[in-house]
Amino acid sequence: MNGNIPWNNKLDLAHFKNTTVKNSLLMGRKTFDSIGMVLQDRVNIVLTRNIPTARPGMPNLIYEQDITQAIDNAEMRGYGNLYIIGGGEIFRQTIELGDELIITHFPFVSEGDTFFPKIDSAIWEEYKEVKYPEFHVSHYLKRN
Ligand SMILES: NC(=O)c1ccc[n+]([C@@H]2O[C@H](COP(=O)([O-])OP(=O)(O)OC[C@H]3O[C@@H](n4cnc5c(N)ncnc54)[C@H](OP(=O)(O)O)[C@@H]3O)[C@@H](O)[C@H]2O)c1
Repeated sequence: MNGNIPWNNKLDLAHFKNTTVKNSLLMGRKTFDSIGMVLQDRVNIVLTRNIPTARPGMPNLIYEQDITQAIDNAEMRGYGNLYIIGGGEIFRQTIELGDELIITHFPFVSEGDTFFPKIDSAIWEEYKEVKYPEFHVSHYLKRN
């Protein structure tokens, strides 16, 4: 809440890093602000309607104004897999566009002001579950 994630789990952060490293990230400007830095060894693509002036010395930080254009550009420029990492506004606009969902599930209910959209089981099928001591990660593919 207020820009913070309501849990802090090192294994979940390691899973996030291992999954996304050497690839690219697409995120909303508010998520970028809440992270507070460019994540290394990944192309960081930030969606905003007000592109700021270039930040020198940050070759792996790119601003985009249009979601579809951002996805097309990432593919065209060979940025590897594109992982959409939030926040809620961006998830709502892109959940239909992805091929796969990789979702961490914690076994508790938490307060929050930003949410991932409901995963529609008519559209998404869980094909893999990886268990960790305090959470599990579900992988979903789009049904044909
Ligand atoms: N794992 C997690 O728990 C997780 C993951 C990610 C984020 N979060 C949390 O989510 C919160 C932020 O989520 P949020 O939903 O408030 O914001 P957000 O989705 O991160 O960012 C919203 C911003 O993205 C830009 N934007 C949205 N749609 C756009 C479009 N169609 N074209 C161009 N730009 C667009 C706008 O930026 P401008 O205002 O600059 O125009 C908008 O204000 C943070 O608190 C973060 O900590 C949590």
